[in-house]
Amino acid sequence: CSGSMNGMDHSKMNMEETQASSKTTNGQTVKPTVLTGKEINLTASVSNQEIAPGKTLPVWTFNNSVPGPQIRVKQGDTVKINLKNQLPEPVTIHWHGVPVPNAMDGIPGVTQNAVQPGQSFTYEFKTDVPGTYWYHSHQDSVNQLDRGLYGSFVVEGKNEEKVDRDYTLMLDEWMSSGEMSSMNMSGGNMSGMDHSTMNMGHDMSMYDLYTINGKSGSLVDQLPVKQGDRVRIRLINAGYLSHQIHLHGHEFKVIATDGQPINNPDILKDNVISIAPGERYDIEFVANNPGKWLIEDHGNNAAIKGMKATIAYEGAAAGSDKANESEKLAAVDMSRYGQAGKANFTLDQKYTLEYTMNLNTEMKNGEMVYTINGKTFPETEPINVKKRDTVKVRLVNNSKTDDHPMHLHGHFFQVLSKNGKPLEGSPMMKDTLNLKPGDEYIVAFEAANEGNWMFHCHDLHHASAGMVTELKYT
Ligand code: C2O
Ligand code: CU
Repeated sequence: CSGSMNGMDHSKMNMEETQASSKTTNGQTVKPTVLTGKEINLTASVSNQEIAPGKTLPVWTFNNSVPGPQIRVKQGDTVKINLKNQLPEPVTIHWHGVPVPNAMDGIPGVTQNAVQPGQSFTYEFKTDVPGTYWYHSHQDSVNQLDRGLYGSFVVEGKNEEKVDRDYTLMLDEWMSSGEMSSMNMSGGNMSGMDHSTMNMGHDMSMYDLYTINGKSGSLVDQLPVKQGDRVRIRLINAGYLSHQIHLHGHEFKVIATDGQPINNPDILKDNVISIAPGERYDIEFVANNPGKWLIEDHGNNAAIKGMKATIAYEGAAAGSDKANESEKLAAVDMSRYGQAGKANFTLDQKYTLEYTMNLNTEMKNGEMVYTINGKTFPETEPINVKKRDTVKVRLVNNSKTDDHPMHLHGHFFQVLSKNGKPLEGSPMMKDTLNLKPGDEYIVAFEAANEGNWMFHCHDLHHASAGMVTELKYT
């Protein structure tokens, strides 16, 4: 299949009918679509999808494809999303990064009851903050995300300049065996992050198929461009591993992270973006180098080789693939960037509340657990706040080998310092922050969105093995 969709090219609007297709085993054709408007219907159901050439896996889907449809709304709109559950298990939807009211956050046992098989639930919220977000199940989430219950969510800014091409690439990893990453199929309860009783040794090498928009290798749809186009690519990591994404043949700018625009982005050449689970990066470039070029995960193992899409200039000769360099590239240092006009906090100001979060990997009773201050959820100490508190959180990764991409629901936080040094750039706003082993970050936010919110590692194996706490308004 070919055609403009699937990278989810959207810029030329009236897109609902122009998508490329992918096939399921029963010969049926599914169309990953873009849904716009103020009322959206999502049905969760079981399906099959050809993930890699000749490799069809059982998947759980929204509207019959992985990823589910892109939801595309306008800033300021109130959107209604009707979820219908046709799965054999309960489900919910969390709007990752979107500052929704607490009751719409999709956390089973906390903000709503899980939606039982055969039942429906309507989410409704106003979309005030433009940017690139995503949605995913938050019920038994380590397994349900792994099976494919996710999609992208874009809020178009009121005064946003239109680019010529607007593609979305959702990154993920799969197991060709089709097995789930843990056997915790109990359905989960509180927060959808049940502490599994299984040994959580999580050998990540079991993920041997890397995908872009649910497809690997030659199945990944091309991204058509023409000479002179301004191209935006929205990268979303829906998997449990970090990926080093490189664009060949072009200089690019990182224009946003976690949906938040970056102040004065530089032009970057021969750089890679390291994108951790749950994070988003939007990049932009001008198509000024005709040919066929890869945007790909920059590594050497076989699975990594599947995570690539071809940027194809219209009219460029097929086979003129120049993208096979394998040089070592530097990762973009995101701590140099930030957003203009949002310097809400400084390192030395007085905060109403300070919380230290020591993250660790420990053996307890013969089981590998992931702890916050020595405890696993639900025993972890919540961050108890009152509305309008200014909150400073110190995050320290004491794990020897694990990254911990920490995600706070319902709020953006400002990153104040990294490893003792204030951030160089203008204030960076994030909702998901990756800590490498030994990293220490200080972040701050205003408690301005009442409710009970999760703060957890987005390697959901770690979350289900304890690395979760809550932000609670008292
Ligand atoms: Cu994207 Cu609580 O998660
Ligand atoms: Cu983690």
